[in-house]
Amino acid sequence: CEDMLVENIVRPFHLSDDDYKKIMDLMLESFNKGLGKESNETARVKMFPTYVRAVPDGTEEGDFLALDLGGTNFRVLLINLKGQEVTMESKIYLIPQHIMLGTGIQLFDHIAECIFKFMKENCLLEKNLPLGFTFSFPCKQKGLNKAFLSTWTKGFKCEGVEGNDIVKLLHEAIERRGDMHVECLAVINDTVGALMSCAHSDRNCALGLILGTGTNACYIEELPCVELWDEDMEDPNFVLINTEWGAFGDDGALDFIKTDYDKHVDKHSINTGRQIYEKMISGMYMGEIVRLVLEKLRRHGLLFQGKGSEELSTRGRFYTKYVSEIESDVDDGFKNTKQVFDELCIDHFTEEDCRIAQYVCSLVSTRAAYLASAGIACLLNKMNRPEVTVGVDGSLYRFHPHFHDLMMEKIQQLLNPGLKFKLMLSHDGSGKGAALVAAVANRLNAEKK
Ligand code: BG6
Ligand code: GLC
Repeated sequence: CEDMLVENIVRPFHLSDDDYKKIMDLMLESFNKGLGKESNETARVKMFPTYVRAVPDGTEEGDFLALDLGGTNFRVLLINLKGQEVTMESKIYLIPQHIMLGTGIQLFDHIAECIFKFMKENCLLEKNLPLGFTFSFPCKQKGLNKAFLSTWTKGFKCEGVEGNDIVKLLHEAIERRGDMHVECLAVINDTVGALMSCAHSDRNCALGLILGTGTNACYIEELPCVELWDEDMEDPNFVLINTEWGAFGDDGALDFIKTDYDKHVDKHSINTGRQIYEKMISGMYMGEIVRLVLEKLRRHGLLFQGKGSEELSTRGRFYTKYVSEIESDVDDGFKNTKQVFDELCIDHFTEEDCRIAQYVCSLVSTRAAYLASAGIACLLNKMNRPEVTVGVDGSLYRFHPHFHDLMMEKIQQLLNPGLKFKLMLSHDGSGKGAALVAAVANRLNAEKK
């Protein structure tokens, strides 16, 4: 009987195959709307063409700096390219919350200061270094190093950046200091980095996917499908499209599956009404969805005999890494789950509480994995290539014990017959990808001179 009561509360997380097929149809509509020249203006899923055109030819050499902003960690990297050999040093720097929510000038001054510290520590201040910038936010690009932020996503909201060229803002901050020689040659999205780094070793790689703090995908589209592509530009046969699929559902397309928990998360976020698909999937929100369900079960006396803790009642305090930890407990007396309950200062719990918490985590993460699978299957069907490798990165995919398997199973089910795919973990796409793209730009610049 108690099980029935629990089931009533979690029921909205169970979606049918028909629901996932409907989501694929709606996604395809959204993707096509984004690709059309006129329809793009009102489209929520923006399908930004990227300017990554020439691929590395193995002759790229030298030292490059890279920045990686927008994931769990902000990093500055030094990458040495010598043909196929790539070596790198990197350091993580904190971006305090007040800077994430401050002004653009503060943000870019902070970034410039981190670059300075990094160069000083590595004795690079005398050098003239090209830089590649992995900036994991939606940007309308007008060139490889001209990227206009369309809107902040995830935890950032710095004033005075939306609508502006982030390369210009970075260069201005570097000039304000006047103590280093760095030129940003390329900006890429993290999805592009994931695709590039996998394409380096697998020629079938034509899709890049991030499942981390946020979620997004990029893929190789045929030119005739991209009305958006500006005619003035020299035409390639294919265009790499950054879908920014996290915004799918912002027009209400996902309302038919939205739960009260999703609505709550959206309402209390810094970008209410935006990134609806992302909020149902990615690491920035998953822990909070689970927390809201656990709290509801507790309030109904179905968990912890109704007694929770201040921690469990605190917004954002149930981290997404807990979901991975709890779901990793198999036949070991709920070791991790008990540890998580301890961290949340929950004093009294039973094995049954552990079982219920694990069940809630698995429902929320399975829905996320299946939703992401619907997105990937939709793109794979649209691309209609016989074999595609998907380059994947992000903490959720890396650390969740079942995400990979759940996606393999669901994509297979939703894929058109005859198509094959692989999911391949990307290694340091953001560092290597940004450096490779900057290196190609450097080579092309040198050839022009
Ligand atoms: C990392 C990349 O590996 O994955 C980042 O270096 C990227 O650039 C990130 O944004 C995505 O995952 P997360 O979990 O850090 O948001
Ligand atoms: C958010 C960003 C997107 C990025 C994704 C994964 O959705 O808008 O640009 O790729 O997070 O980091």
